[in-house]
Amino acid sequence: MTHFLDIHTTPETDLRKIIDDALTMKAARKERPKGAPDDDLPLKDHMVALIFEKPSTRTRVSFDVGVRQMGGQTMVLSGADMQLGHGETIADTARVLSRYVDLIMIRTFEEQTLLDMAEYASVPVINGLTNRSHPCQIMADIMTFEEHNGPIKGKKVVWSGDGNNVFASFAHAAQQFDFELVFTGPPPLDPEPALQGMYSIERDPHAAVLGADLVVTDTWVSMHDPQSARERRHNQLRGYQVNESLMAKAKPDALFMHCLPAHREDEATSAVMDGPHSVIFDEAENRLHAQKAVMRHCLGK
Ligand code: CP
Ligand code: NVA
Repeated sequence: MTHFLDIHTTPETDLRKIIDDALTMKAARKERPKGAPDDDLPLKDHMVALIFEKPSTRTRVSFDVGVRQMGGQTMVLSGADMQLGHGETIADTARVLSRYVDLIMIRTFEEQTLLDMAEYASVPVINGLTNRSHPCQIMADIMTFEEHNGPIKGKKVVWSGDGNNVFASFAHAAQQFDFELVFTGPPPLDPEPALQGMYSIERDPHAAVLGADLVVTDTWVSMHDPQSARERRHNQLRGYQVNESLMAKAKPDALFMHCLPAHREDEATSAVMDGPHSVIFDEAENRLHAQKAVMRHCLGK
């Protein structure tokens, strides 16, 4: 069984092949209408369940469109509407769904829910974001970086803001793809201890971005964070906003990324998000291509 649960638990050679396949598939579809099928139909006769226990725009639409382009069918399920949201165990849910579908993508809260789904399902399971990680996003981000600026190996990536789930997947990727990762943010929002050794810390954002090839940020309040933390986080993170003055310290050809959704003028200004360094909409598009390659990988197609 080939699940896609995290970047650090996926062999490096598989990760590289997924990126290469995504680039090939993207090129093969150039100029084709989004609803048109791919030439080969690797998911023909396949049914895919897309489970969401949190909101989503990109993950939901990109997986759904990707499956259809590859000739498969999808069902999008809201966790709250399933018995899962009313006390049925994840193990039983996994065993039942495995009798109906060929692949499961789940966006959930606790990482343990994802791990239980993978343990009890008899079909591949893909991580569509947990409180701790977002590997599909970072596969799209690596693909996007390399499309614009070549191999990411040896490059300097700076994360400014909250040491959250998306940062964690960048930390996993830094090891697997061999790039330097610098975290700049306030101590209370440091990444989780399990990630230590995968990145370095520079508290001063202007010092951190010197020589950066890529500057990344994300929302200051994630979906799993209590809304009551909003004001405190904004006060803690205000100095880590990615604005033009910060971007000016990075390399002249540095890229700016944000997984979106963004809160414009909080974690990043519109001048940066819509400016010359920004590749945020390429990132969003590449979710589609990268995840198609992830699904092929999981199904051995
Ligand atoms: N970046 C991302 O995963 O976006 P959604 O929450 O819209 O899926
Ligand atoms: N860190 C964000 C990412 C959203 C795609 C969250 O978990 O809400």
